[in-house]
Amino acid sequence: MTSTTAPACRVCGASLREFLDLGRQPLSDAFLTPDADPSEEFFFHLAVGHCTGCTMVQLMEEVPREKMFREDYPYHSSGSSVMRAHFTATARGLLDRELTGEDPFLVELGCNDGVMLDTVRQAGVRHLGVDPSAGVGDVARAKGVRVRTAFFEEATAREIAAEDGRADVVYAANTLCHIPYLDSVFRGLDAVLAPGGVFVFEDPYLGDIVERTSYDQIYDEHFYLFTARSVAALAERFGFELVDVERLPVHGGEVRYTLARAGARTPAPAVAALLAEEAERGLAEPETLDAFATRVARSREDLLALLTRLRDEGRTVVAYGATAKSATVANYCGIGPDLVSFVCDTTPAKQGRLTPGAHLPVRPATAFAEPHPDYALLFAWNHAEEIMAKEPAFTASGGHWITYVPEVRVL
Ligand code: SAH
Ligand code: TYD
Ligand code: ZN
Repeated sequence: MTSTTAPACRVCGASLREFLDLGRQPLSDAFLTPDADPSEEFFFHLAVGHCTGCTMVQLMEEVPREKMFREDYPYHSSGSSVMRAHFTATARGLLDRELTGEDPFLVELGCNDGVMLDTVRQAGVRHLGVDPSAGVGDVARAKGVRVRTAFFEEATAREIAAEDGRADVVYAANTLCHIPYLDSVFRGLDAVLAPGGVFVFEDPYLGDIVERTSYDQIYDEHFYLFTARSVAALAERFGFELVDVERLPVHGGEVRYTLARAGARTPAPAVAALLAEEAERGLAEPETLDAFATRVARSREDLLALLTRLRDEGRTVVAYGATAKSATVANYCGIGPDLVSFVCDTTPAKQGRLTPGAHLPVRPATAFAEPHPDYALLFAWNHAEEIMAKEPAFTASGGHWITYVPEVRVL
């Protein structure tokens, strides 16, 4: 007998209600070598639901973690100067505010190439990065950053606590939302955090995603889309408390959440303010999420109509930024090499390869000017300012940028 059970909330076990179906999708960071056998490409069904109990927004299907976070994981955090500055400032903030005691210790989940920890290392503060992707970890080690190649979960946390002692701060950027098994993570946090320690993490904010229709923030690695409300419920479930929130402009809009053990710190007024704002906007309401899904479908129609018209008019179109996010857009909208000739990207590990699913060739950023295309689709719209500042000759030559956030537009 076969039975199909609807997926349950990964946090609280209540039932999920699906509100958005983005179809069959590849691993967003699995760039293919030109000679790869396309029949071996991994696909899964990308759909999103919200929990009818704790409100957590999450994927309906989980991709095995080993398929995503591998030795050759191609995303290098240091590829953007804006992000390098953001993480330097973040490290300084933690050093000034939290790491002031005697012999403080900081653990970072998803340290990647050491973009944040390098500043902590320079300050001479004890630290440990935890990241399962060995390649980026090696880049961090080459800078002198301490890294453990592992998935952070309860067992890893217990080992760290036994070997290095408890941490004053556990920090994670764009990583907690990648981890479906939060029960294990929180048991680990309980084991590794000092009694007065804090867990600080920042991830794309559902409030911004809904407001900007930035549905490309949804892909295999982004298992959760957090709100203050869902994070507060999550924290409470595991004996923690949401004590501060801060909205961040990076990556198209994020929130930095600070968690402490329940009762250990007085929550900042910003927490109640953001919770009230979310309630006012109806961010957890089915109608709000359904309206978002309707705008997503509209965005696909608009983008396809624009790209098809440009092709029919004989214009040249390339894309800029082989982002993980763009896998969702290209595969959901059906954007192949007939509509976009290639994608420029500065990441050596992506160049000479094909984008997942859509199979757009990835070429170095220098290919952008050989010669400039008529139109450039901004796949890395979250880095728009940085990229446009780098490519002034494109618009000077009569070229036009295309974005799809918050709506499809020729700039
Ligand atoms: N913090 C960086 C990197 C984000 S990419 C930044 O903000 O730019 C997400 C990183 O999380 C990847 O390097 C991936 O290997 C790592 N990761 C995935 N699952 C993890 C886990 N369970 N524990 C620690 N790191 C994890
Ligand atoms: P990003 O938007 O940070 O993340 P994700 O892959 O999670 O969606 O990815 C930015 C990509 O754009 C990355 O592959 C590097 C590339 N890039 C450039 O090619 N040029 C640039 O100037 C910048 C800032 C990024
Ligand atoms: Zn739930």
